Amino acid sequence: MKLLEERILKDGHVLGENILKVDSFLTHQVDANLMREIGKAFATYFKTTGITKVVTIEASGIAPAIYTAEALEVPMVFAKKSKNITMTEGILTAEVYSFTKQVTSTISIAGKFLNRQDKVLIIDDFLANGKAAKGLIEIIEQSGASVEAIGIVIEKSFQEGRKLLEEDKRKVVSLTRIQKFENRKIVFMEADA
Ligand code: G4P
Repeated sequence: MKLLEERILKDGHVLGENILKVDSFLTHQVDANLMREIGKAFATYFKTTGITKVVTIEASGIAPAIYTAEALEVPMVFAKKSKNITMTEGILTAEVYSFTKQVTSTISIAGKFLNRQDKVLIIDDFLANGKAAKGLIEIIEQSGASVEAIGIVIEKSFQEGRKLLEEDKRKVVSLTRIQKFENRKIVFMEADA
């Protein structure tokens, strides 16, 4: 997605070896116009696939996921990273290890928001090591729903997430793919949509 690549080049900052800071439009401050375009791009790609729900994980997945859900005219559900006291019945959970934070956390979704008839599109802001996506797949499949594909806003293709998901026969559709960081410059490769 050209608009997104341009924005990453303009406002993204490479930190250290493998982190891209995009807090001015995606992970902290959010550019709603850009998110709407991201939502439309995913919806154009998936419009004929019969998606019934978009699922993401809090926090930074929510913005691209809600605009995708809006464009596909289906509900969006986000996995929570901590249980709250109103989540009392039928909770589906999975363990997710974060390499970035070096902690394992339990993510959860109330079972009533997913069912066997659902065809789910997972949306997330970053694909790095693929652990968040794996955890979401586990939760979704516990409900009997099927995962159609994983839609990613920014894929860091030099990390193992995509490989891991594809080994598991999952379809990954990334709007941007970063091949590498070279002297703090971002090098893109051809994206999926
Ligand atoms: P994984 O889910 O693909 O395995 O990734 P990893 O454990 O490496 O990353 C954990 C968190 O760090 C995720 O957010 C992920 O989106 C984020 N992340 C990974 N690489 C980058 C990067 O290059 N830049 C930025 N800005 N974030 C990155 P999270 O902990 O779930 O955070 P949030 O969504 O609550 O903000």
